[in-house]
Amino acid sequence: MRQLGIMIGTRLRVCKHRSHLFCLHNLEPDLDLTYILQDFLEEAMSQDQPEISLIGVDLDPILIEKARERNPRPDRVTFECLDFLSEDCGEMLRWYLTQLNKTRFDVVFCFSITMWIHLNHGDDGLEEFLRKVCELAEMIIVEPQPWRCYKNASRRLRRAKLGDFPLLKELKYTRNPMKHIEDILRRLCDFQRVTVTAGNEWGRMLLIYERKQES
Ligand SMILES: C[S@@+](CC[C@H](N)C(=O)[O-])C[C@H]1O[C@@H](n2cnc3c(N)ncnc32)[C@H](O)[C@@H]1O
Repeated sequence: MRQLGIMIGTRLRVCKHRSHLFCLHNLEPDLDLTYILQDFLEEAMSQDQPEISLIGVDLDPILIEKARERNPRPDRVTFECLDFLSEDCGEMLRWYLTQLNKTRFDVVFCFSITMWIHLNHGDDGLEEFLRKVCELAEMIIVEPQPWRCYKNASRRLRRAKLGDFPLLKELKYTRNPMKHIEDILRRLCDFQRVTVTAGNEWGRMLLIYERKQES
């Protein structure tokens, strides 16, 4: 059976965590996502694992262009330049799923993206983002940025004399973004916790949640 994954925010990244479906671990820094994926896919397939397809979504066109140019597995890995909160994105992803005879992705990775959604779209945007992801997912893996990263991002903007994030002062989900995200996943998305990993070297944890089984 074909397994599908989506990675939202595709900038280069090394992940040392294991997930249920994808095992990207023990990799050296400064590799980029496509090479990590290539190694991972080849390893998975050589062990007679199911077919795996992955789509990476990011709103940065340059990033997507680079990722496409260096894509080692265009038959399995696709990159799309989309704003995840846009209607186009939902349509595109549903079309992608239909082509593969699926209604949802087996797993959706959201590494280091929740803060940007939260800062740029506020509490409502964060809720909408997680709802949309969960609608499309059997399982979600989120790496929330801690509150100190919000403060650093705001400070960087102010130092660059670019003002501040207009919605920052209006946020109610403050101080402990991870707690708020877990609450949204349970309360609004009706997902259940599988596990929460220990902090990585940056003190970040992965929240792993899944859709409840329909009875
Ligand atoms: C901090 S980077 C993290 C990227 C990657 N997941 C990682 O862990 O290295 C955040 C990424 O999210 C992307 N991004 C922010 N808002 C987005 C949105 N609404 N839709 C799609 N991508 C978005 C940015 O362009 C950026 O590449």
